[in-house]
Amino acid sequence: MAIPSITRVDAILLLGLAFFSSSVVHGIGETVFDVTKHGAKPDGTTDNVEAFMQVWLAACSSTAPAKVVVPAGTFFMGPAVFQGPCKVPIIFEVQGVVKGVVRATTDITEYTSEEWILFETIDGLTLNGKGTLAKVMLSGNTLIASRTKNVCGSPAVLNVVSFTSLQSIKLRKVNNGVVHDISSLNSKNFHFHVTDCTNLTLHSLNITALGNSPNTDGIHISTSKLVNVTRSVIGTGDDCISIGHGAFNITISQIFCGPGHGISVGSLGKYKVEQDVMGILVSNCTLSNTTYGARIKSYAQSDPSQASNIIYQDIIMDSVHNPIIIDQTYGSGEKSKQTQEPSQSQVKISDVHFKNIKGTSASDVAVTFLCSAKDPCEGVELLDIDLAFNGAARSKTLSSSCVNAKFTTGGKQNPPPCPP
Ligand SMILES: *[C@@H]1O[C@H](CO)[C@@H](O)[C@H](O)[C@H]1NC(C)=O
Ligand SMILES: *[C@@H]1O[C@H](CO)[C@@H](O)[C@H](O)[C@H]1NC(C)=O
Ligand SMILES: *[C@@H]1O[C@H](CO)[C@@H](O)[C@H](O)[C@H]1NC(C)=O
Ligand SMILES: *[C@@H]1O[C@H](CO)[C@@H](O)[C@H](O)[C@H]1NC(C)=O
Ligand SMILES: *[C@@H]1O[C@H](CO)[C@@H](O)[C@H](O)[C@H]1NC(C)=O
Ligand SMILES: *[C@@H]1O[C@H](CO)[C@@H](O)[C@H](O)[C@H]1NC(C)=O
Repeated sequence: MAIPSITRVDAILLLGLAFFSSSVVHGIGETVFDVTKHGAKPDGTTDNVEAFMQVWLAACSSTAPAKVVVPAGTFFMGPAVFQGPCKVPIIFEVQGVVKGVVRATTDITEYTSEEWILFETIDGLTLNGKGTLAKVMLSGNTLIASRTKNVCGSPAVLNVVSFTSLQSIKLRKVNNGVVHDISSLNSKNFHFHVTDCTNLTLHSLNITALGNSPNTDGIHISTSKLVNVTRSVIGTGDDCISIGHGAFNITISQIFCGPGHGISVGSLGKYKVEQDVMGILVSNCTLSNTTYGARIKSYAQSDPSQASNIIYQDIIMDSVHNPIIIDQTYGSGEKSKQTQEPSQSQVKISDVHFKNIKGTSASDVAVTFLCSAKDPCEGVELLDIDLAFNGAARSKTLSSSCVNAKFTTGGKQNPPPCPP
């Protein structure tokens, strides 16, 4: 007689809990979907893609707030697509390491997709890390993963590692999302590619690429609006952040960039039909030992488009080659640059402001405007530029070089600007 009544009480309690958890919003009481509960093995060699996909499908079709958890451990996972639309916003929390290739020798031709991990068509995605900092090193042909305590016991940096030639993480049609506390190591193409997204914040990322493989941009943003990237450390073989066509209202701040190719708008004009770029603010960043600093680039031959309302301000340059540069001769090779063959780019660059840019240049030409003969740059402003030379020859003074640029100056001007 007692047993049924206890059972009845338990059932009431469980119902109560279920009601409680499904009725709580704002991140408390999400239903947790743990990949290890669906068979994922943190042994670093089992391909866990099936388990990850199952977990994703379960979370995505959940009607209560859902959280996918990748717990501590090293999970190997081949290329995966996490696709929506989902019924609810999803949190995807990586506490351990997810890596893309078991051995450095894995044949990358096995992979046919363009990217390793694709998040697509999701409204409300939080992709974050938590727990300990995972360190991954490449030693000879072997990938060694080791875990170390995060400094200051502060929450989370987690880890995504790829040794393939794919873009590591692509976010396509992800709206109202946050990506934070993620480390990405050794991508062989863009680490993060943000495309067709609206209202996305990326912060507290640590993006590192060994070596200097081409196109390992830290973050590439295209055809997206209202994207914020902040408080991140990025050192790659290519651009730390590149902003491609169709980018609208993008803010970049508090980035430590280097080594690499700096923070760029472009390359623009590569494709036949490109959308305009408008409303780009890069502020409060430090660039260290990069080949370029604040850079806008377009192909020398390109169809019409516009890049306007671009601001680089409060930037510290630490031994940067070409700290301030607009280059519309991209893709035309060194030869035509030397002969100053005029750029025919039809990417119209206007309303561009370089403000409060300080520090050191590692080359003697610190300000370069190499604009199009067909569509000269207009409304370019240099305000409070204070750069010193710190290259090999200490006696050198810095200079500026300008072609087809209409600009104004104000405040401090070091190097002296081009004659008007
Ligand atoms: C970023 O990751 C690299 C490689 O794991 C590590 O050496 C570095 O200390 C990390 N930086 C920060 C600021 O966490
Ligand atoms: C942008 O996304 C964040 C995070 O999902 C959300 O809290 C915020 O309301 C969104 N803003 C707008 C204007 O939709
Ligand atoms: C982006 O950052 C700017 C200032 O840094 C802030 O005003 C804006 O609200 C942020 N937008 C989003 C979507 O977080
Ligand atoms: C600039 O960045 C530093 C750290 O890099 C931060 O402490 C400061 O608050 C930032 N200021 C603004 C105005 O963003
Ligand atoms: C986009 O940025 C411009 C300024 O660059 C601002 O006037 C406008 O309000 C912004 N639009 C949105 C939707 O935030
Ligand atoms: C600058 O970067 C180059 C190549 O990325 C590297 O070899 C060199 O050691 C770096 N110098 C400093 C001072 O960090």
